[in-house]
Amino acid sequence: MPVVSVINYKGGVGKTTTTANLAAELAWRGKRVLLLDLDAQASLTFSFVQPDYWNEHLAEDQTIKSWFDSFSSGTPFPIEQLIFQPERTRQRLDGRGELHLVSSHLGLINVDLELATKLGGATLKQAKTSFLRVHQRLKNGLEDLVDDFDLVLIDCPPNFNVVTKTAIVASDKILVPAKPDYLSTLGIDYLRRNLNDLVEPFNEYVTMDNDSKSETIDPTLLGVIFTMIQVQSQQPISTQRPYMAQTKALGLPVFDAWIRENKTLFGDAPEYGVPVVLTGQSPGTYQNVVNELEEFVTEFQERLDE
Ligand SMILES: Nc1ncnc2c1ncn2[C@@H]1O[C@H](COP(=O)(O)OP(=O)(O)OP(=O)(O)O)[C@@H](O)[C@H]1O
Ligand SMILES: [Mg+2]
Repeated sequence: MPVVSVINYKGGVGKTTTTANLAAELAWRGKRVLLLDLDAQASLTFSFVQPDYWNEHLAEDQTIKSWFDSFSSGTPFPIEQLIFQPERTRQRLDGRGELHLVSSHLGLINVDLELATKLGGATLKQAKTSFLRVHQRLKNGLEDLVDDFDLVLIDCPPNFNVVTKTAIVASDKILVPAKPDYLSTLGIDYLRRNLNDLVEPFNEYVTMDNDSKSETIDPTLLGVIFTMIQVQSQQPISTQRPYMAQTKALGLPVFDAWIRENKTLFGDAPEYGVPVVLTGQSPGTYQNVVNELEEFVTEFQERLDE
């Protein structure tokens, strides 16, 4: 069961939109996909469920915040208890595959602060033990689910806080949506360095700690997928191409596929609770967008299988 985190420090680059459509298309192709919303903004959650439903049925004790909180209260429960299939998408999938969700909560911000206080210790040994314990919490939680899903996708917030780090430690691969502009691409190389700064000490502590049952980790970049591309004659416009080329020149893996900008289709979800790739609109622009999403998902599967 590969675990893939969707990350970019830059906000608004299409992480959540990419995650939702990737999951929906994979489910359409017959996969059992688990989506985990790890962003306190909860955009992924609200692209599948109505706020009223969330308030009534999920907010109190059915979000990933409750799961993190359960460690502090001393009664951790399995993540499995939080998993459900959003209804609109389930209907649309019509029994092909499955799309499951663990929803988020605004209060996840506080979880981050609290996890940060749990790092450290009176001695170096204690500090290393708490570093491992805190960072591999999610990895351990997901291990119970290996037989239930073909893939786990984690939508991360635009930061590198402790919660995001728990996602990286749990991940086999990192998917990086980016806009072809200066700031978005600048952040990608920085992300790669930050990944190393987490993985190296983590593995060093695991190796040093003889009593530890932990295993070393190796989350690697699956690739950069460029989103919100402006298109002219079916190609990215000339001002955007240099940023795509530059990213490749840095030695970063870049998807051949890309996704165009379309404010009408992506902006206000045309059909509530169903990602664009499953909405089934009339042909024309919609068909171009769907083709691009499908090409991306095919390439995603190929890269994951490599
Ligand atoms: N291809 C696209 N064309 C046009 N608009 C898009 C496209 N993809 C996403 N959007 C819109 O851009 C905004 C940001 O997208 P999204 O929420 O996916 O980004 P994000 O990286 O997850 O943001 P955040 O960092 O806040 O979590 C949303 O309003 C979304 O509907
Ligand atoms: Mg997002």
